[in-house]
Amino acid sequence: MSENVSKQIRSEVTKEGKLLISIKNTEIPVPKEDEVLIKIEATPINPSDLGLLIGPADVSSMTVSGEGEDSEVNMDIPENFLRVVTDRIGQSLPVGNEGGGIVVAAGGKDTEELVGKTVGVAGGSMYSQYRCVKASSCFVMNEGTTPEESASCFVNPLTSLAMVETMRMENHSALVHTAAGSNLGQMLIKICLSEEVPLVNIIRKEEHVNKLADIGAKYVCNSSKDTFLEDLINALIETKATIAFDATGGGKLSGQILTAMEVAASKTASEYNRYGSDTFKQVYIYGGLDRSPTTLTRSFGFSWSLGGWLLTPFITKIGPERFNELKQRVVDEIKTTFASHYTKEISLAEVLLPENINVYSKQSTGEKYLINPNKY
Ligand SMILES: NC(=O)c1ccc[n+]([C@@H]2O[C@H](COP(=O)([O-])OP(=O)(O)OC[C@H]3O[C@@H](n4cnc5c(N)ncnc54)[C@H](OP(=O)(O)O)[C@@H]3O)[C@@H](O)[C@H]2O)c1
Repeated sequence: MSENVSKQIRSEVTKEGKLLISIKNTEIPVPKEDEVLIKIEATPINPSDLGLLIGPADVSSMTVSGEGEDSEVNMDIPENFLRVVTDRIGQSLPVGNEGGGIVVAAGGKDTEELVGKTVGVAGGSMYSQYRCVKASSCFVMNEGTTPEESASCFVNPLTSLAMVETMRMENHSALVHTAAGSNLGQMLIKICLSEEVPLVNIIRKEEHVNKLADIGAKYVCNSSKDTFLEDLINALIETKATIAFDATGGGKLSGQILTAMEVAASKTASEYNRYGSDTFKQVYIYGGLDRSPTTLTRSFGFSWSLGGWLLTPFITKIGPERFNELKQRVVDEIKTTFASHYTKEISLAEVLLPENINVYSKQSTGEKYLINPNKY
């Protein structure tokens, strides 16, 4: 802290339509009355972070100039994706949705008790050495929890809890989840087990079937198998799931789920209805892992809805009291239900290394990287 410098990762779309990733020196921020200053020691690279860090840029076009913390990574942005990023042209944006660290200073007397505590926090710019945030927004961890364990306390834990909340709020009784081998998917399996909510998991690689079964998943359907639709329909007949959260977003998966739900509903209907079953079917697209267009072959009647879903408006919807209950559950179960696993811890400079970019940009199961901005 002596040099008053806080380094941070920045991502920019240049006027020439290229993506530029670099490290910038900023001043260590000074906490206001209701804020605390956190030394960030762990911050994950999640798909949502990659959306800002790399966006639609073509990783295979990557070139790197300079060395270490002075490196600059350049990538081309395919012509057809340029309009998606026009709003950020010329802006050097800090990255990182969430992180964990130690409170090193407090702005006011009321928050001094937090100094020295391990906290998890969300709020952007977490790929920074130091961050000031409102004291009230911190997840104050229990004694014995490390910054690494706290790093992923917000995005995936709250989203997986919110899926079950949404299911109940919208009068469904079982869930379908895609890209289910993800960090979030594994949390959801544990929540559903403890709350006895039937859950149908969809993955695309056979090796993930046993992995999910080992943590308690009862229904795992592989979308790459010829029997996928049949397997899915059977799981839906058993579970009666009528709401799905689709992280892939592109391709035909959302439509296939609606079709399978319709077939499952029709199998238990008492009479034929030419307009389809009365059972209401909901699919929420909550991620963009597959960037191809979403295609629907409408063979599922008229009682259905396909929409987008995002955590932040959901938090506003449930209000502060319920939010604080969910937050406390995350703090108490951060080493169990909400434990995250990382394959590698990297420094800010290592975020810019091509061999690391080639791995973390793939968003593969069990290949999540953790950044320690204060590691050299
Ligand atoms: N809307 C919200 O508010 C919100 C909040 C939190 C998270 N999310 C979303 O939740 C998802 C999971 O996040 P995470 O951090 O848990 O991910 P993660 O651990 O990094 O895992 C990513 C998963 O996606 C799969 N995958 C990657 N590309 C795919 C594709 N094209 N088609 C199908 N599967 C693909 C991978 O499986 P393979 O090994 O088969 O590649 C892997 O299991 C992300 O899409 C993220 O954006 C959304």
